[in-house]
Amino acid sequence: MAPRLKAGPQLIPEALASRKERGKADEKTVEQAKRVQVQARRFQAVSPVSWVEAMRGMGHRHDRESALRIIGAATGYTPHKKQLALHLSGEGSSVQKFFCAGIGTGKSHAGIVEDIICALLMPGQRGLIVAPTYDQVLHVLLPKFLALCEQLEQAGYPILKRFRWSQMRAELVGGGEVFFRSVSKVDNLLGFEFAWVHFDESETVLDPERVWNTLKGRVRQAAPFRQMLATSTPRGLRGVIAIFHHAREAANDNEREDIRKQWVFIRATSFDNPYLPDDYIPGLKRTYSKRAWDQEVMAKILRPATAVFEEFERAKHSYRGTSRVGFIRELIARGVTYDLAYDAGDQFPHVLWIANFAGDKSVIFDELCPDGMTLDRLHAEVLARCVALKRAPDTIVCDRARKDEIQWAHQAFPGSHVTRMNSRAEQLIAPGIEVVRNRLDPMMGDPLILFGDWLFDSPPRRGITRCMQNLRYQQRPDGTMTTLIIKDNIHDHGTDALRMQQVKRFGSGGMMQMLTARYSHAA
Ligand SMILES: Nc1ncnc2c1ncn2[C@@H]1O[C@H](COP(=O)(O)OP(=O)(O)O)[C@@H](O)[C@H]1O
Ligand SMILES: [Mg+2]
Repeated sequence: MAPRLKAGPQLIPEALASRKERGKADEKTVEQAKRVQVQARRFQAVSPVSWVEAMRGMGHRHDRESALRIIGAATGYTPHKKQLALHLSGEGSSVQKFFCAGIGTGKSHAGIVEDIICALLMPGQRGLIVAPTYDQVLHVLLPKFLALCEQLEQAGYPILKRFRWSQMRAELVGGGEVFFRSVSKVDNLLGFEFAWVHFDESETVLDPERVWNTLKGRVRQAAPFRQMLATSTPRGLRGVIAIFHHAREAANDNEREDIRKQWVFIRATSFDNPYLPDDYIPGLKRTYSKRAWDQEVMAKILRPATAVFEEFERAKHSYRGTSRVGFIRELIARGVTYDLAYDAGDQFPHVLWIANFAGDKSVIFDELCPDGMTLDRLHAEVLARCVALKRAPDTIVCDRARKDEIQWAHQAFPGSHVTRMNSRAEQLIAPGIEVVRNRLDPMMGDPLILFGDWLFDSPPRRGITRCMQNLRYQQRPDGTMTTLIIKDNIHDHGTDALRMQQVKRFGSGGMMQMLTARYSHAA
């Protein structure tokens, strides 16, 4: 007698619906049953023991094709091309698979089929199905799993003995188990060992690499083979995708082919799934940006933004409506104060004049960044421009490494507040950049940093608007990004000066603490 399905359908509307639709399903099942008669006669029966033995036999032969045929015959599942490639791939005793595909491609669906294949091939083993949230586990993955189990049982291939709702655990025919967990509960599985895991939407969690490695540590049950499957839309060359990239690239030419059979990577787009409703993809087209379309539908592994100030653009950040001369006249007339951001490198000095408007608005209105000017001439020029402004700077933010320049600032502007990056937090570059970015593109309201429109027209080689456009993050050889900026002596000094002044004036208190904490682990 085939064991009965004892699910708790009241908790899962989808499973309930599939039961209600039993009328329809029956017709289908009968049809399927006819189709599988041959296999059915072979396995059925006879006794559950021989069914388990038959599963074991398939497992030892790593016969994925037979398992898939049983699933197809019992449930009507017809994988599309990319799903089929996923199911049939994977050789050796340790298989890793990544299904990198667009939204609606059938990742979750195919993932659950992979799980059933593992359950069929390894009836006594333990499996783990993981999704980013409990909701996804309960409403997406579990109903698909139960529905397939039910159909298998109807067709005479029982694999589910009972489902333990209190433990979110399926007990399988043959002694195996399947655990269903959200990512946040993965750590609680300490002590359990698994033969296979399935991690759905891996790239959407905060730290995919860590979760993958945690799971990897648990996949060590002695089994005919072990399998780790992740499926996701991509989020650039990072996370689990980067792990696969490394593994598949690392091998030398001779080994590469074998390695790639153990580290399977399949890419598919939403267009690969012929089962989607007709209006599905056009609907996506209407809502996505170009970049989102490429990533979410076409499953392209996009280069993460390498520009540090990605949000910077002339249309948004230029102060218009006047000229440099007109602006200065207005500053004087309205008595607006200004700061000097003073980065005095030996060869590549950069001085910014930054007006302090009401409402914490900063406007960079003048700069001096000549190559190889003598210090004396630089000092004279800075003084002359400040004199023309008819008042000394309010604050002068200096490079902390240049004691002589700090001294000069004190002497030249005795009434100004001369300062530098003092604390460790202030010196950290990444949080400082974040202060600037937050003010360039605040969540609410207009940008809080503007640049005189005249600074955009034929700026000097190292001009601040050029720096803002071209400052880049360093990339590792494998293409992943770091949070270190490229110091090219062209685009880093002007942005350094601005960052220091902004941190000094606006980077105090909670925001800086939060940012420092966030970046203290970053490379
Ligand atoms: N081989 C298939 N046969 C029939 N329907 C499928 C198949 N693959 C996917 N689907 C259906 O396509 C839709 C999207 O699949 P799903 O697995 O949820 O996509 P994804 O997880 O990639 O967003 C679902 O309704 C699913 O049932
Ligand atoms: Mg899905």
